[in-house]
Amino acid sequence: MRRVAIYPGSFDPVHNGHLDLIQRASRSFETVIVALLENEAKCGLFSVPERLALLRETITQKNVRVDSFHGLLVDFMRERRSRIIIRGLRAVSDFEYEFQMAQMNRHLYPEVETLFMVPGEEYTFLSSRVVKEVARLKGDVSRLVPASVIRALEKKLA
Ligand code: PNS
Repeated sequence: MRRVAIYPGSFDPVHNGHLDLIQRASRSFETVIVALLENEAKCGLFSVPERLALLRETITQKNVRVDSFHGLLVDFMRERRSRIIIRGLRAVSDFEYEFQMAQMNRHLYPEVETLFMVPGEEYTFLSSRVVKEVARLKGDVSRLVPASVIRALEKKLA
């Protein structure tokens, strides 16, 4: 099987910690698919088309594609013929949720492996939630997200 890894997430919006992980994953796999969950129940700050556009604008690696999915991640993985899920682990607090998700995905698709990658230490405190909160309160997020995301946040929160 070709080494296709899936990096799933909400990416609302993409931040430098995600981009760091994408760069690391792109060095280890033939193809990386960044898979944005289209979740009608969870209303984000950015719409799915906006999040996809921001991901596509900021990802530069030739072997990384951006796609979206709805429903179960494992069904999308079967469609894309991938058995590898990449997830970032920033701190111990991420572990419980990630462990549960990894076990559930394996229960649903026994051949799947979840691989955890650690972002650069400068990004261990970073999440889309804190980026949005700081941006809403007019704090400086210029070193935390790419320029296109800063512009999008300014427009959205104006
Ligand atoms: O960036 P996030 O919000 O932490 O990403 C979570 C995501 C999208 C990876 C997760 O919610 C997901 O895979 N959802 C799809 C539904 C699914 O497959 N659920 C079963 C595993 S718990």
